[in-house]
Amino acid sequence: MGSNTGKIKELIEKREEARLGGGQKRIEAQHAKGKFTARERIEMLLDEGSFEEYDMFVTHHTTDFGLDKIKYLSDGVITGHGTIDGRVVYVFFQDFTVFGGSLSKAYANKICKIMDQAMKVGAPLIGINDSGGARIQEGVRSLAGYADIFQRNIMASGVIPQLSAIFGPCAGGAVYSPALTDFTLMTDKTSYMFVTGPKVSKTVTGEDITEEELGGATIHATKSGVTHFVAEHEEEGISILRKLLTYLPQNNLEETPITPCSDPVDRLEDSLNEIIPDSANIPYDVKDVVYSIADDGEFLEVHRQYARNMVIGFTKFNGKSVGIVANQPNYLAGVLDIEASRKAARFVRFCDAFNIPIVTLVDVPGFLPGSAQEYGGIILHGAKLLYAYGEATVPKITIILRKAYGGAYDVMSSKHLRGDINYAWPTAEIAVMGPRGAIEVLHFRELKGMDSDEAKADFISEKENEYRDKFANPYQAAQYGYIDDVIEPRNTRFRIIRALETLATKKDLNPPKKHGNIPL
Ligand code: HXC
Repeated sequence: MGSNTGKIKELIEKREEARLGGGQKRIEAQHAKGKFTARERIEMLLDEGSFEEYDMFVTHHTTDFGLDKIKYLSDGVITGHGTIDGRVVYVFFQDFTVFGGSLSKAYANKICKIMDQAMKVGAPLIGINDSGGARIQEGVRSLAGYADIFQRNIMASGVIPQLSAIFGPCAGGAVYSPALTDFTLMTDKTSYMFVTGPKVSKTVTGEDITEEELGGATIHATKSGVTHFVAEHEEEGISILRKLLTYLPQNNLEETPITPCSDPVDRLEDSLNEIIPDSANIPYDVKDVVYSIADDGEFLEVHRQYARNMVIGFTKFNGKSVGIVANQPNYLAGVLDIEASRKAARFVRFCDAFNIPIVTLVDVPGFLPGSAQEYGGIILHGAKLLYAYGEATVPKITIILRKAYGGAYDVMSSKHLRGDINYAWPTAEIAVMGPRGAIEVLHFRELKGMDSDEAKADFISEKENEYRDKFANPYQAAQYGYIDDVIEPRNTRFRIIRALETLATKKDLNPPKKHGNIPL
């Protein structure tokens, strides 16, 4: 029997050294910025005691700039796997206390190793970003390391869910790894993302702008749509990530585990019979519909602050995970515009890639008219949503609540885009365009010949009423089989659950091809 005490002591000491990252002073500096350290984040994210760390003893291989004398075990990123609610996830945590979390080739190799394994195992990948970007001293090897990660993000896309949280800086080309993942979360005021920072912006364009204004969480949540979630602080961010995972399968060949549901499947929601206002021009909040039909009223909204005329997110029906896509009459009347189309299209594709059925709630007055939209390419962006729905083979259930006008009727998971079960409420209005627009086109000549405004208004009002009588109902569409049934609003939860159960074994195929050519 040998005495290994010394060797074991060495191991323990090395582990302790690695766990200290860049040292106590830098840990304190991290805390002073209102941020947790990478090691603290591991404890917060993963089930207690579940973390298995890889490559703790890795160091960089750079000798330039005196770096051969400055080495930290782990080299600025902590990698491995653990569990969240008992389900395996692969994780990396960038450690800002070591060279500002900047990326060396050895660091990139550590991330690539766990990405490769996540793919083989079929488990989600979660990256916690907090980094000064490419490690300057490494030169092109750092750029190579980034590209190695990007390539893996691309290969993993649609195979395993990939989630990114930004808990500090994320600048330069480093932003492209989160951008290639499925969902990005940023913490408010302590994180930022930009391809080029304020200093370079000032030099190149003369623009004077702060980090927060250029790439803070608010900007990316409201204007660019780069981030799907904003958390007030890291604890909230972690809890959103954990919640999000409950709606996702482990990989594209599996389904999301069904959670026990105590909310009765046949619960009637009488308030829905009254929710649509008497006048077609009065808004209501479509999220009230979602809350009242979902299991226990729970809904995880994605992209809450971006393109608010479209609501997307995850909910459960009888414990089964579902993606919700809904026009929001409460904001810009729920019109389809560039941002709303892009937002919903990407979400539909995510759900389709990961076997998550889609429930679409329709109340849309049409596409937003005007030069801003046309110059911005609404034709292409609207086509993205059309494409996404038409390509999707997961169960698709559509409920037309009120307006379904024009091209927007077609786009929003209509029967014609392989909608599986399409219902309408009795308040549905399905037509080529809204009454006002239709009257102005159909009676252009008569209106032009009228001198008095009063006579014009009377004429329009009379014709609008005629038009409404004809089209402001679901029965014309029902007559052609374009909707399968007109349902009482209070039955909506029950009808959706039954539809999901019926469609659970649905099979639909797209023709074999390398890949389609979605209008990007
Ligand atoms: C090496 C870096 C580093 C980097 C920070 N550090 N960024 N070391 N390479 N890119 C080191 C600092 O020298 C310092 O070391 C420690 O990290 C903390 O940095 P501070 O500046 O003291 O912290 P702070 O004031 O909080 O500022 C953080 C920061 C700033 C805003 C991120 O460090 C910064 O601007 N860094 C450079 C960012 C950058 O331009 N990166 C390259 C982007 S281009 P000590 O020893 O003092 O603790 C890019 C290309 C990728 O990433 C392309 C992929 C395709």
